[in-house]
Amino acid sequence: MIIAIDGPAASGKGTIARKLAAHYGLRHLDTGMLYRAVAARLIAAGASLDDPAARLEAARGLAMENLADEAQLRGPGMGEAASIVAADPAVRAAMLDFQRNFARTPPGAVLDGRDIATVVCPDADAKLFVTAAAETRARRRFKEIIAAGGDVSYEQVLADIRRRDARDTARAVAPLRKADDAHLLDTTDLDIEAAFRAAVDLIGGST
Ligand code: C5P
Repeated sequence: MIIAIDGPAASGKGTIARKLAAHYGLRHLDTGMLYRAVAARLIAAGASLDDPAARLEAARGLAMENLADEAQLRGPGMGEAASIVAADPAVRAAMLDFQRNFARTPPGAVLDGRDIATVVCPDADAKLFVTAAAETRARRRFKEIIAAGGDVSYEQVLADIRRRDARDTARAVAPLRKADDAHLLDTTDLDIEAAFRAAVDLIGGST
């Protein structure tokens, strides 16, 4: 069984994906971590995020150990850096086999990202597009950053989210969009438990 979940930053898709994986006994891959890790490799090598040759080398050389430091990969600026490298078709192509192999390995998996239902796993058994109002997503992310001891303003977080949404939606290859056959799950007015229950209901109806 393969469950594909797409949506913008802080929509709740990651938490829903993790809970679905536990519920159905599937493996889970947060595919955003792949692009974050490519960006982190470039930064560690002192290369520019805008250097196509360095980007490709960082993507092709990506190893599991590059995904280990979750706190660093989720740190300040990394979402933005990931979205810059993720707009490069060559970087995306280099990530495809890994994601597809992960999805197909028994007993199956929940993958979450931006292009899972549209590009990576178009034949997934169930597809969800998880979204929420930008202000709601910014409020969630702002609370998380403050709780972790970070120092930002709500306005800054909202601006970051809007910029990333715009780049991810406008790019030429594998833009963020709802697959025609994906269920829409708007979490604006849902807490995580309610969002998870809604996801299970939608998946139950499609498998
Ligand atoms: O989901 P997360 O915030 O970790 O993703 C970071 C960035 O990686 C996104 O803004 C997007 O540009 C990129 N991404 C992508 N395709 C995916 C997952 C993430 O382009 N499947």
